[in-house]
Amino acid sequence: MDRIYTPQPLAAEMVEHVRLKRPATVADFAAGDGELLRAARHRWAESTFIATDVNPASVALLRRNEPSWHVGQCDFLSHASRARCRALADLMGRVSLALLNPPFTCRGGSRWDTQLNGQDVRSGLAMAFVISSIPYLAPGGEMVAVLPAGCLWNERDQQAWDLLREFGQVDVLAENGHNTFPGCSPRTVVIRFTNGPAAAPAYHPSILERDPSGAHDLTVEVIRGRVSMFELNGNHAEVMRPLVHSTELEEGGLNLTRRKADGIYRSVSGPSVLLPRVGRPNKLKIHTYQGRRKIVISDCVIALKCKTGEEAEVVRTTLLENWDEVERHYVGTGARHLTVGVISRLLKGFGFDVIAGDSSGPGRQGNE
Ligand SMILES: C[S@@+](CC[C@H](N)C(=O)[O-])C[C@H]1O[C@@H](n2cnc3c(N)ncnc32)[C@H](O)[C@@H]1O
Repeated sequence: MDRIYTPQPLAAEMVEHVRLKRPATVADFAAGDGELLRAARHRWAESTFIATDVNPASVALLRRNEPSWHVGQCDFLSHASRARCRALADLMGRVSLALLNPPFTCRGGSRWDTQLNGQDVRSGLAMAFVISSIPYLAPGGEMVAVLPAGCLWNERDQQAWDLLREFGQVDVLAENGHNTFPGCSPRTVVIRFTNGPAAAPAYHPSILERDPSGAHDLTVEVIRGRVSMFELNGNHAEVMRPLVHSTELEEGGLNLTRRKADGIYRSVSGPSVLLPRVGRPNKLKIHTYQGRRKIVISDCVIALKCKTGEEAEVVRTTLLENWDEVERHYVGTGARHLTVGVISRLLKGFGFDVIAGDSSGPGRQGNE
């Protein structure tokens, strides 16, 4: 996945996520053809730009096209190569902003060993890049990176995230669909890392950092609705079930009488906690559904299936008690939304056992 360059609109969006007013030094350590740095230059023409890449052809092209940038050839994952690279000389602790679309591999098992502040870290390729970039950030410096969505919750990258959270603040800003990168299907997320607590006065310790061991002995299955309201328009079938879209998650309670949908669509039964996946976060719209009768949930709704009604109440109460934490994990530049991966990680952080979320699959599915 080395050559999948960032499309210009996404590069511009990533730059919009930067909170620094005027970053003096902007770097991309896997610069490719330089799209991310060009987007940054569009916003901050006065900054100094640093670009490195392992590929000699990309480096030659960058040197030719961008003579004012500091360009170097470097295998960024090799300590020796970084030390030899003139574009990186004296750069430790001096980069105000790193923009990154690192290479990553779809071969799940691959592990890379890196170090951060003397600590060994083992992770996937993309997170190895992220970790290796951190020592270059100035205090208060920021990194905005596009990463494969799986990085957020797969086991092999958790050590890297834990360490990042020791060094600063991590915000998950947006999730990109399968079509963001032409000709390539992985879902990706945009994250921002802010270096050091000094840069993050509003820093709240994340629930994702807490030790959840043994807090609840309770299992939750995360189920995301699949059918869009658009798809349902005018749909009639023999087996119609109550439909729950965000509009049925009323502030006063769950409305199961307003709409019905074909029972072939993804349905859940109670006991479950239902919450909006998309839109302005609103804790008054989180409800438990205790019925055994199946209901269809739209793609704007997440169901948290529990074993008993009491357990569903515990899950709902926990979400409400930790609402600030849940609320700020609704991300996105357009409509804010909660990803299945993030709610799963939050629930784990709250001490629940989580059955793998069902974040894929077609709209028409018979059941949970
Ligand atoms: C996904 S592309 C991103 C390029 C560019 N930053 C963008 O967003 O359009 C990844 C880039 O990483 C470079 N790369 C791969 N392995 C590298 C390594 N070990 N060190 C430095 N660059 C590397 C590739 O040559 C490629 O240009």
